[in-house]
Amino acid sequence: MSLIKTPDEILILVESGRILAESVTKVLSVVESGVTTSDLDDFFVETIRKLGAKPAFLGYKGYTKTICTSVNDQVVHAIPGKVTLADGDIIGVDCGVVFEGMYTDMARTVAVGSITDEARRLIEVTKEALQAGIQQMIVGNTVGDISAAVQAVGDREKLGIVRDLVGHGVGHAVHEEPAVPNYGRAGTGLRLEVGMVLAVEPMFTLGGDDVIFEKDGWTVTTADGTLSAHFEDTIVVTEAGPHIVTKTA
Ligand code: MF3
Ligand code: CO
Repeated sequence: MSLIKTPDEILILVESGRILAESVTKVLSVVESGVTTSDLDDFFVETIRKLGAKPAFLGYKGYTKTICTSVNDQVVHAIPGKVTLADGDIIGVDCGVVFEGMYTDMARTVAVGSITDEARRLIEVTKEALQAGIQQMIVGNTVGDISAAVQAVGDREKLGIVRDLVGHGVGHAVHEEPAVPNYGRAGTGLRLEVGMVLAVEPMFTLGGDDVIFEKDGWTVTTADGTLSAHFEDTIVVTEAGPHIVTKTA
């Protein structure tokens, strides 16, 4: 399976991303105090199935749910369950679908009710870092240009930048080469070509860079207990620049 997707594969990928973005938007619209993370998982899989797609995460390395729901100091990969959302929480919702063989992956972090100014700033800056990384997805640039752009935003705001998890190639599978770190040097790494598809996914914290891999085998939390935010899109490198296939309003 090539890292360069064909025009036909990209047409399907665009449809996959459209279904995913629409479904994530629907899931985020029901996030409120009193909802459980497993309610969100149920709603996501019901929504994508109606749209003709299948969950990409279910069964991935034995994962038992269809989305990841990471609350507060949970960075990524928290498994939906009995956790009930409360006013003041922040939640990262990370979802993937496969449609006609093409995989897309995306995440958004949102507030539950009213949150602190610091939590709001964390969310806004992480979102900005994703956009900064995406803007570097131009033919002739390198993966290091994406990484450096993401890092620059985190450093500017003195946020923790999680280094133990990275973005990745995507399309024929949830995770493909290359790794796309959220820190690095401009001009280094793989050169970007038309037809490459990447999932760029900054994970920032209000404290340090270090994370803990929890005993459930999935959940990643901040080592210092501070809040963390995560944003992710699936993007194609085209002649005309980056095409975000999981774009939301
Ligand atoms: N979006 C996640 C990532 O890129 C994929 C999660 S796979 C799951 O790391 F199995 F944990 F759901
Ligand atoms: Co991903």
